Amino acid sequence: MRKAVSVSAPGKLMLFGEHAVVYGRPCIVTAVSQRMHVTAERISDDEFMLDAPDVKVQGYRKTYAELGAGEVPRAAAFVECALSNLRKEHSFGGVHIRTASEFTSQFGFGSSSASTVGMLKAVSELFDLGLSSHDIFDLAYRTVLDVQGKGSGFDVAAATFGGTLAFVAAGKRIDPIDASGMPLLVGYTGTKADTVSVMAGVSERAKRDPKKIESLYTAMGVIEGEAEAALRAKDWKQLGACMNRNQEELERLGVSGEMLDRMIHAARGAGAYGAKLSGAGVGDCMIALVPPEKSGAVRQALADAGGQPVDVFSSAPGVRVE
Ligand code: PMV
Repeated sequence: MRKAVSVSAPGKLMLFGEHAVVYGRPCIVTAVSQRMHVTAERISDDEFMLDAPDVKVQGYRKTYAELGAGEVPRAAAFVECALSNLRKEHSFGGVHIRTASEFTSQFGFGSSSASTVGMLKAVSELFDLGLSSHDIFDLAYRTVLDVQGKGSGFDVAAATFGGTLAFVAAGKRIDPIDASGMPLLVGYTGTKADTVSVMAGVSERAKRDPKKIESLYTAMGVIEGEAEAALRAKDWKQLGACMNRNQEELERLGVSGEMLDRMIHAARGAGAYGAKLSGAGVGDCMIALVPPEKSGAVRQALADAGGQPVDVFSSAPGVRVE
């Protein structure tokens, strides 16, 4: 009987189709090389303990009877809720969860989804629950809906399956795409976006002008299809052009931001094939496709614009035992 299991799960970046994916259109997501490490250790009492120092959760504990009840700090909400969902289907003993991230929760790389998926995998391995990747995805997606009320599940899909995926909400489609060699460059705006409130703002706008917003989602869905074809053909120039068009639709949706715009224009001006925001928008990260010989110039342009180039690789492996 193992006393502890350590796993790691990747962060993610949305390449195409954010927001539209919440309303039934496909998106493309890639898992990134920076990972969340999760350790699950058996403890004697029927208790859940959590230490997640990156998000300032230390010495947090609940008995299994209390799971989900009382005050749940925001940073513990996903892991606690996922454990509670898991306990509805499986019985197992007390567990101490520790998380340690290779990336800051500020980037929007999906630290909550990576720790949720990592915890489910680690607990499954520790107690021999035999969860498949699809079981982990389903439990993690249910948790996203329980905690956030809304979301496509693209982030937990990336953490679970890894690679680069064409994805439709709730896992209706999870198709790996070979994106090896994709010359992706990432820049951080310096501000954290609150995904839930950005999504709420989009819903408000959709109530006022449903036809317009639906037509934007439809356009984004069409662009995703073209982007998938370009990605499969490794036509980076065409893929960059798709990024620029996707960004235009996101601007119309009202989710870009001053810093995002500045960095996106800086990247294009310095020779990127294309650039767009990634994720909910407003802040977090932008992405660009950059010919290798222009990479230094684009990184410099992002820094000159006040942003921070982030070193990551795409198509990282999904959750795995370490
Ligand atoms: O802010 P992020 O990186 O978690 O991305 C949110 C993407 C949305 O499409 C707006 C929401 C979702 O769950 O797909």
